[in-house]
Amino acid sequence: MERVTTVRDVRAWRRSAGGTVGFVPTMGYLHAGHVSLVERARRDNGRVVASVFVNPTQFGPLEDLARYPRDLERDQGLLEAAGCDLLFAPPAEEMYPAGFEAVVDVGAVAAPLEGQRRPGHFRGVATVVLKLFGIVQPDRAYFGQKDAQQLAVLRKVVRDLDVPVEVVGCPTVREPDGLAMSSRNSYLSLEERKAATVLFRALCAARDRWAGGERSSDALRAAMRAILDAEPLARADYVSLADPLTLREHEGAATAPALASMAVFLGRTRLIDNLLLEV
Ligand code: PAF
Repeated sequence: MERVTTVRDVRAWRRSAGGTVGFVPTMGYLHAGHVSLVERARRDNGRVVASVFVNPTQFGPLEDLARYPRDLERDQGLLEAAGCDLLFAPPAEEMYPAGFEAVVDVGAVAAPLEGQRRPGHFRGVATVVLKLFGIVQPDRAYFGQKDAQQLAVLRKVVRDLDVPVEVVGCPTVREPDGLAMSSRNSYLSLEERKAATVLFRALCAARDRWAGGERSSDALRAAMRAILDAEPLARADYVSLADPLTLREHEGAATAPALASMAVFLGRTRLIDNLLLEV
């Protein structure tokens, strides 16, 4: 696997790469979830590119940009073992040289939930991903379902702007106790880590009610909240039952598929998770 840091080097590699190219954009500190995206890209494409870039424009002023975990050497080893051909790990100046101004204004799908709590977050995500697509020029790009709103935002951007990249959503990878893999799990203390299973437990409560025929969106949200409220170390930021494409909140009777999602604080660490409730 080659590791490059400049747009120019990626372009040179891309010109010589035959067949289809699958792309896995990441912010590094990789876990089994990222590895599963690379493996899927490996199966679907002739060549695989991954990027590691902690994108400053998607962090708010009070968020964790400075303390976001980084370990590029370890990431490189994991990517290589998963069958990645090229690692693009640019410095911030390469992505945002002096005078950089353009942004992608996403629209309504970016407004609620994460977008409401993290103003500017999806503008930063959409802008950097579109820029990475322009640099790598992949045929397909792979994103985890764990960031369900990010997936919906990127699908919308690609559709609205006719970007010739297929956005592929991949299943959330979980720890044996149900906690969704996330680089931010590394912030949790031992007690918080134990309590963090509450997200999956709350989502499973909604899933079980749904399987039992419950369709009242209020009842489904209440079932999730009840589990979260019973965990003293957890503080719910939001609990949602929404349309998975528009992220519009369901009112009254929910229709399938519905996205049950939540953001929860454990101490200073904010975790998100979701489950798709299908027919
Ligand atoms: O999901 C992430 O890690 C990031 O939001 C992404 C897509 C790599 C953009 O910086």
